[in-house]
Amino acid sequence: MDKKFKRTLVTSALPYANGPVHIGHLAGVYVPADIYVRWLRLKGEDVLFIGGSDEHGVPITLLAKKEGVNPQDIVDRYHGIIKKSFEEFGISFDIYSRTTSKTHHQVASDFFKTLYDKGEFIEQESDQLYDETAKQFLADRYVTGTCPHCGNKGAYGDQCEKCGKDLSALELIDPVSTISNSKPVLRKTKHWYLPLDRHQQWLEKWILNDHKEWKSNVYGQCKSWFDMGLKPRAVSRDLDWGISLPLPDTEGKVLYVWFDAPIGYISNTKELLPNDWEKWWKDSDTRLIHFIGKDNIVFHCIVFPAMLKAEGSFILPDNVPANEFLNLEGNKISTSRNWAVWLNEYLVDFPGKQDTLRYVLTANAPETKDNDFTWKDFQTRHNSELVAIYGNFVNRSVVLTNKYYNGVVPERGELTDYDKQILAEFSDTRKEMDNYLDNFRFRDALKEVMNLARIGNKYLAETEPWKLAKTDPERVKTIMNISIQICANLSIAFEPFLPFSTDKLRKQLNIGKFNWNEIGSIDLIKAGHQIGEAALLFEKIEDDAIQAQLDRLERIKKENELKNWKPNDIKETIAFDDFSKLDLRVGTVLDCQKVPKADKLLQFKIDDGMGGRTIVSGIAKWYKPEDLIGKQVCFIANLAPRMLKGIESQGMILSTVNSDGSLCIVTPQKQTRPGCTIE
Ligand code: MF3
Ligand code: ZN
Repeated sequence: MDKKFKRTLVTSALPYANGPVHIGHLAGVYVPADIYVRWLRLKGEDVLFIGGSDEHGVPITLLAKKEGVNPQDIVDRYHGIIKKSFEEFGISFDIYSRTTSKTHHQVASDFFKTLYDKGEFIEQESDQLYDETAKQFLADRYVTGTCPHCGNKGAYGDQCEKCGKDLSALELIDPVSTISNSKPVLRKTKHWYLPLDRHQQWLEKWILNDHKEWKSNVYGQCKSWFDMGLKPRAVSRDLDWGISLPLPDTEGKVLYVWFDAPIGYISNTKELLPNDWEKWWKDSDTRLIHFIGKDNIVFHCIVFPAMLKAEGSFILPDNVPANEFLNLEGNKISTSRNWAVWLNEYLVDFPGKQDTLRYVLTANAPETKDNDFTWKDFQTRHNSELVAIYGNFVNRSVVLTNKYYNGVVPERGELTDYDKQILAEFSDTRKEMDNYLDNFRFRDALKEVMNLARIGNKYLAETEPWKLAKTDPERVKTIMNISIQICANLSIAFEPFLPFSTDKLRKQLNIGKFNWNEIGSIDLIKAGHQIGEAALLFEKIEDDAIQAQLDRLERIKKENELKNWKPNDIKETIAFDDFSKLDLRVGTVLDCQKVPKADKLLQFKIDDGMGGRTIVSGIAKWYKPEDLIGKQVCFIANLAPRMLKGIESQGMILSTVNSDGSLCIVTPQKQTRPGCTIE
């Protein structure tokens, strides 16, 4: 970045107010944004951090319908929960507002009107599905039908969950309205489009030439949008929840949620600074940074800039550091499947441990590729990094200073070569961190601070002041002075990442906030300064707390399996003759054993009333062999023999396949003579 800016405006994606926020949100957007602004503030820069809830859009109306309440009730509920979570995790917004605010409705509506008056939209009529019973146009999500790609009968109008293909409701075969269960009809409707194709040329130059420094995942995604060619995008919808179009004769039409939401950044700035907001948005000395997740890239790098440019008086973002996704224990985080760690629930289970989550999510942030959150990793990072290195070092420093000097920081004597070597090891810390943070590499920056704590820990472990207390008290003074200076350095360098524990640390050291540029100094705390009492910064997380989380996820997995289970589709119809070809019989298990080196298989000896036969069956996971001896089973008696693990299997034992995937042997309802047929 060559240009010198006067101020930085940081925005973070406005989360949809249709559910609480989870660790994926925090890791992808809010923690990195918060680290960034806390860092800028410590450097004394002029910065604003804008947040808020995104309260329009179809999913909110669907949830409201499902619960039988108004959309406003839904967004009131979740806006409250989300706002509280952010406060609790120390996300230091200057304002956290919402897109249902009066200011926002006014700003967004004016923005649309300006573009309209300038002729920046095209108007177009098209066919849309219309529900004649409910008397309304249907958003894609309000329609279900048969997927044209895979035949799935319950596909949604925007996507088929079975084959994963994106759809439009018009492609569905036999569409049904989810509002009234009636068959929708086609009806003409008029919408306004932002002709992105007209903007492609400057956008392409602006990003691909002038912003080569953007993260490669962001740059790459933009490039592929350009390669496909930008197309006009509708900015209005037929819906009764949102910001009404400020045009005559457009009743029942609102701004598309992705048109109004990013304008929320502007409205919220205006709400915060009614008289002074414009310099943050219109002065080319302002540097604008959007923190977002990867699913928001096109809107922040292409659509919103096109809107800003079309309006004419706004600056464009200088960078859009989007993250990839965080998975949870190997699976995609999903609100609807409850596969998430919700922030509000986390704090119930781990009260006071905000910083642990901030730490783990940063250390493992999905900066360049999707990453996985696991509870085991969470525990390990907490216990062996936060507790064993950072916490341990600070605790020893504070405890020993209190013990030897009643908490008064001692004078430092001459430095030894070893002292100098230790100090040299962290002389570059700030420069390195600045470099990483400037480039949105939060993981690497965090590693640098942790390394500083590691250096402190090593210093105490190797100088062993507790052994020198009697023999060389002067040396101990120097060691403790240096240790306390390193603690003070940590209180600055950790602040953007772990604001809660740095508060605690400052209390123990009895100090205030320093400036970021003081990192590296060993004169932060004067000799003679009185420090406070020692208190543990972090307490160990025990195995049972982690097991409880894993058990919870296991329970959710089971619940989801049951909830999502549907019987298989019926196979093609067959003639009676085909059925008669099957020879099904009852038999009694004479013997049953595990098949060596095959954990799935059991080998049966069946009394089939005709001298007996061997059958191998893949049900070892669900039965102990000895429990089956003497039981009756049903089997296919005329199946061509097959070799399984070197054993000839003469038939197949019938089982039900249960909704959780387990197998259960089918058995006649009354004791039956071996060899009887089943018809
Ligand atoms: N609500 C959107 C999401 O969660 C993000 C909106 S960002 C904004 O994906 F720019 F539109 F505000
Ligand atoms: Zn499909």
